[in-house]
Amino acid sequence: MNAASAASGPSALSPLPETPRTHGCGELRLEHAGQTVILAGWVLRRRDLGALLFFDLRDRGGVVQVVCNQQTQPEVHALAEQLRSEYVVWLEGEVVRRAAETVNPALATGEVEVVARRLLILNDARTPPFSLDSDAPAAEDARLQYRFVDLRRPSMQRNLKLRHDLAMAVRRYFDAQGFWEIETPFLTRSTPEGARDYLVPSRVHPGEFYALPQSPQLFKQILMMGGCERYFQIVRCFRDEDLRADRQPEFTQIDVEMSFPTLPAIYDLVEGLLEAVMAVTERKLARPFPRLSWKQAMFEYGSDKPDLRLPGMAEVSKLLIGPAREQLKVRAGQPVFLIRIPKAGELSRRERDDLRPWAEGRPVKLFEDFARIEKSFPEFAASARIAAGAQAGDLLVLLGEPESGSLPAWELARQAGQLRLWLGQRFAERHGTFAAGEFRFCWVTEFPMFEWDEAEKRWNAAHHPFTAPREADWPHLTSAPENVYAQAYDVVLNGVELGSGSIRNHRAEAQSRIFAALGMNEEEAQRRFGFFLEALRYGTPPHGGIALGLDRLVMILAGENSIREVIAFPKTASATDIMMSAPTPVSPRQLRELGLNLRAETPRR
Ligand code: AMO
Repeated sequence: MNAASAASGPSALSPLPETPRTHGCGELRLEHAGQTVILAGWVLRRRDLGALLFFDLRDRGGVVQVVCNQQTQPEVHALAEQLRSEYVVWLEGEVVRRAAETVNPALATGEVEVVARRLLILNDARTPPFSLDSDAPAAEDARLQYRFVDLRRPSMQRNLKLRHDLAMAVRRYFDAQGFWEIETPFLTRSTPEGARDYLVPSRVHPGEFYALPQSPQLFKQILMMGGCERYFQIVRCFRDEDLRADRQPEFTQIDVEMSFPTLPAIYDLVEGLLEAVMAVTERKLARPFPRLSWKQAMFEYGSDKPDLRLPGMAEVSKLLIGPAREQLKVRAGQPVFLIRIPKAGELSRRERDDLRPWAEGRPVKLFEDFARIEKSFPEFAASARIAAGAQAGDLLVLLGEPESGSLPAWELARQAGQLRLWLGQRFAERHGTFAAGEFRFCWVTEFPMFEWDEAEKRWNAAHHPFTAPREADWPHLTSAPENVYAQAYDVVLNGVELGSGSIRNHRAEAQSRIFAALGMNEEEAQRRFGFFLEALRYGTPPHGGIALGLDRLVMILAGENSIREVIAFPKTASATDIMMSAPTPVSPRQLRELGLNLRAETPRR
């Protein structure tokens, strides 16, 4: 469409002049007063006061107010009357000090304004689907569909800049530590990380498929076999899995592997990385990070990704004796957890009523009124308080299992852990912890090596099958897989799993035994990982590594609740790209070339 002819469009659009911009809009300060500047950007809003017309001009770095004066610059003023939100303009003007009463303290450039002497409209714009004035909430679907507009919002600009700064800090850090960034293929074969693969049909080999990597796991191990010793990569990974606020089908890992590692060396490397990353946002962190074994994490925090912003739970079953035990009727031999939310105060009757539905339908027994327990069983309550380190004004809730229950102890702990977080979040304002912008890192180590898959009736690798078990646990590999723990570690921040890694099996024989323990027969192991087992036989050094979720890291440091806020072009919860409209059907010709036939019953969106 010829914009000049559009009913509401400007009368004339200009080409971009040869003279470059002299400043960014957000840079201008009192010290620039009297200077002639050239700016370019978008019109944020316009205010027409008759002889004086003001508009706010925005570029990537900020906003400045522009004035067009009808008396001194009638042509500029006339053109400015055509401006609408999001028009793209170029201007030359003089920076002037604002009169004291018109200073805008909310704006970094609020002490000055630019008096326009030349104004050019470079492009017009349709009315944006939502306001760009501020970060006023807008429907996410609209934001994703009009991402080209949404990306101009201050929060998106801030998040993308933060992401860039973090990525640069990561690269500087690893470079200084002697790590090489090495790219690995996207068109590859399946790397098991526990999700479904995205498959890409091959045209050259009809009926055959590449898999997009769920992670570069096998490649980074092969780089160690290839003598590269220290590798990192900021790399896209692809997983077809159920999406959540902190999960995307394609996401970015900071992927790391090193040869001849010791566990302390890996912890130190990653803590140093996170220290460098936090420094970008002018935050310090305490080192070394606390280390919790998986068991400790489960029984103290009820989670394998403990949120240390809240205190751990006290296990008080041993204190529960005599009449207290008889009357509270919790299952013998099972843990009983006292959950403490500091400074949250006792629950009101209404809050207790709100809490009850949480427990209904769960296999737990909840005592939400600790005051009543204190009245009935003062001795137990007093010793339980001490065990939990309770102070006056803390909220205390007791949780056990009904006598008829049959949960494994760690599952009961997990339930208690969920309640701990639920209470913590719900009463965050009262205890002030979650709101305080606190960053609490920890390591969780010694995960169980295997998880029982009830549906498939077999053991799965809890991390991935290349993880080494603890040396001492090899003897139980087949006799008691549930007692085998892995040389695996997660780094956790505020209850979010940031990264996960392990020491690997570097001998072919050890790797074959793990495949066998996972129920893979020799033939299947050869078919899926033959090349890898072969490679292990050519002088593989001991090696280990980790991968951290870059999106999650940026999300937390940006104070966002969803990784979609820190990814330029994320997918929706149903894994679609609503701006580009992907995925899409393809032409019969493309299908033919790929040797594919769609089944008639393939459901269509
Ligand atoms: P893992 O599968 O635990 O380990 O992934 C490592 C980290 O990647 C992030 N992450 C995700 N982020 C967003 N969306 C997703 N769908 C998603 N899935 C994972 C998490 C997670 O901690 N190869 C191993 C690492 C290793 O052993 O070195 C691996 O990929 O922050």
